[in-house]
Order: sequence, then C-alpha cells, then structure tokens
Amino acid sequence: MNRSALVCVACGWQAATDARYPFACAHRGQGDGEHLLEHRLARDAVLDRHDSANPFVRFRETLYAWHAARARGWSDADFVGLVQRLDEAIARVDGHGFTITPFGPAPALGSHLGLDLWIKDETHNVAGSHKARHLMGLLLYLAVVEGGPGGVAAGELPPLAIASCGNAALAATVLARAAARPLQVYVPPDAEGAVLDRLSALGATVVVCPRLPGEQGDPCMRHLRQALAQGALPFCCQGNENGLTIDGGQTLLLETLTCGAPPLDHLVVQVGGGALASACVQACARALEHGLVPRVPRVHVVQTQGAAPLARAWARVQQRMASQSESAAAALACAAAHRSQFMWPWEAPPHSVASGILDDETYDWLAILRGLAATDGSSVVVDEDTLKLANRLVHQTTAITPSHTGSAGLAGLLQLQRQGTVAPGNRVGVLLTGVQR
Ligand SMILES: Cc1ncc(COP(=O)(O)O)c(C=O)c1O
Ligand SMILES: [Zn+2]
Repeated sequence: MNRSALVCVACGWQAATDARYPFACAHRGQGDGEHLLEHRLARDAVLDRHDSANPFVRFRETLYAWHAARARGWSDADFVGLVQRLDEAIARVDGHGFTITPFGPAPALGSHLGLDLWIKDETHNVAGSHKARHLMGLLLYLAVVEGGPGGVAAGELPPLAIASCGNAALAATVLARAAARPLQVYVPPDAEGAVLDRLSALGATVVVCPRLPGEQGDPCMRHLRQALAQGALPFCCQGNENGLTIDGGQTLLLETLTCGAPPLDHLVVQVGGGALASACVQACARALEHGLVPRVPRVHVVQTQGAAPLARAWARVQQRMASQSESAAAALACAAAHRSQFMWPWEAPPHSVASGILDDETYDWLAILRGLAATDGSSVVVDEDTLKLANRLVHQTTAITPSHTGSAGLAGLLQLQRQGTVAPGNRVGVLLTGVQR
C-alpha cells in the first residue's frame, strides 16, 4: 500500500481520502459481518523519526492524521506545530502533556516471580492512564480535517461523544477541554462521584444511563449510538465506533519496541473493550512489516471472571480449528463473517475489582484474535484473588500505584505462570495502564 488507507477488514470497503469523518465502514450493521476499520499504513512511512520525546511527534508517520494532513497540503513542520500547540493546551488543563512513558526492568518483582519482568508505566500519562493516547490520535485528525480552508466554522463543529465511566471519560474530557470542544459523556449510574465531579468541572455534559429492565448490552453504548445518529462524533476508545482510535494507542507499544530494551518473549495485556490490545497487536505487526524489529513478543490477553467475552470468542475459534482442521486464518475469516456466533454481550451482570475491564462486549475482538494467532499468543481469565494479589505485589515492590484494572495484566501473568505458558526466566512485559484514584 503506497498511501495510508482506512480499510474494512470484513468487506474491503475503503474510506475516500477526502472523507472528513471516515470513522466506520459504510456497510456497518449490514449482515453478520464484523465491519471493523483498520489503518493500513503507507509502505514508505517512517515509523520512528527519533526526533522528539513526544510520541505524537516521534511516531507521527504512523498516524492517519499525519497522512491526512500531508494529503491536504500540510508540510511535516505544520503537523509537528499542531501536535505541539495541542500538547501545550493539554498541559494547561492537566499539568503536563504527552511524553514517552517509563519502560524498564522491575528487578524486585521479577525475582519474586522468577522472571525477567519489564514494566511500562502509564500511571503518570495524561489524565492518569493510557487512554489519552487513543484520543490524541483522534484529536489531531479532527484538527487536520476541520481546520484551514474548506474546514468547518468554529460555531458549526459537531459535539464529541463518548461512553465510559472512568479513565477514557477523564482522558476525553481533558483533551476536549484543551481543544475547546463540547463533549457529551455517557456514564453508568454507579460511576464514581469524584470522577463525575471532575468531568463536570472540566465542562463535559454528563448523562447517566440506567439499564432498562432485561436490557442486553451496555446502556451507555445505546445512548452513545443515539448521540452519534444525531450528528455527534465518536471521541472514544472503541475501534468499532471509530477505527482511527487504534492509531494513537499504538504509540504505547512503539515506545517499548524502540527504546533499546532486549526483545520480550511475552507481552500480557488486559482487555476491556479491546482497543488497547488491538493497538498492541497492530503495533507489533507494523513494527515487523516495516523492519523496525526482528521479532515481536507472544501477546496474551487478560479478562476477569466477571466478563470474559473475548476468551469465549477465542475458545470458539480454537474449537473450529480443532474440530474442522481449519487453519487459524480460515477460522478467523469465518468469525469475521459470522460475528454473532463468536461475540455477543456477556449475559451475567459483570462485577470485578478491575472495574475498567468489565465491558460486556470486546468491541475490537477480531483484530485481537488475529494478533493472538499471529504471535502464538493466548487468552487467560483471572479470578478476583489473583487480581488483588497482583495489585498488592506492584504496590509492595515498586513505587508505582496502579488501580486493579491498571495491574490486571500482571494478574494474567501470574495465571500464565501457573499454566506453564510462561516459563521461569522468560522476559515478560506488563503494562500498568492506569493509576489508582
Ligand atoms: C487502566 C485501564 N487499563 C486497561 C483498560 C482496557 O482497555 P480497553 O478497553 O481498550 O481494552 C482500561 C479500559 O477502561 C483502563 O481504564
Ligand atoms: Zn465493511
């Protein structure tokens, strides 16, 4: 692919280069196919420009926003200027902007586990989690296509909208405030009061969404879709609603792959809606394709017993492979065409200490399962005791203070060790994705 394109992985639909808001496949909702957009990066893109501590400058050529800017006549310097202006505005709201986050060995915890353990610390990132990365990719894209000649008058900018109760909502609110854009946030009735106060203080319109009797699926998502149907733009961390959200999330793994550390054997990633893991596996694939690294880790994904729709989907794919002697590619193609047989809302009301990964559907499931197949990875489900133990271990052995959601990847690693998937002495990466509030 000589130029960057947004392509649907189910039907091959491709967004027009001059489309302003190409966030989902035009055929989405038709049939049982999983119409998920993927950014196929231009072959000649330079993944790592090595020229900044800001990941959105350094890895700018991996962003569809950069390609959209260049296609609209912007210079590279124009784009860098945009990143810097937005970053300064974010710093005025949140105290600091984006910078490459720490990634290094955790010797005390590693020796306790008998592993060469490496930790990526996202707890001091913008708004206290990795979520702002996803949204910065979107914000840059919006600034490119809405600004300048042929853009949108300031008074006519559509509102932004997101469904979330925690980290994603906070990140969206900080970024929308920095860009002076109105934002609607759809939250469940049990969202934390302190979080809601912060959202309101920063100017977001917060809408509480109770579950209707017998309702399957997330009521916040139902409200979000209504808002989108009325013209709001999906400013969210779910690739099915906005395929572009995966781009910015990839900076996390690009940072770890390019920091000069020895290659990891395994990477363990916690999964809620799935955008984070999707970004991780797609960053691995890009890095390999573009020759940035000689090999990538086996990627394992983690869910809680409270809600594990991705583990269920992966088990069904594996069943197909075993019972019909199908290749992974064939089984995954079948899954892409028959979503309802592989992914549907978790039936029981979900509960866990890791409340941030309780999404009752894994919206980015297909991209993740492809990544598991490509990297010889796996899917694990952890119980509440393991989630609590993992969080305690991090607090006891490091200076990092993640939430239970933030340390859920480590819980998955404990489980992978018990199963023997991860062997003593292996080099393993874990993402501490969000701070305890
Ligand atoms: C701290 C933290 N880590 C990980 C995740 C999981 O990300 P995703 O929903 O993209 O799977 C979330 C989602 O809310 C989160 O808040
Ligand atoms: Zn499609």
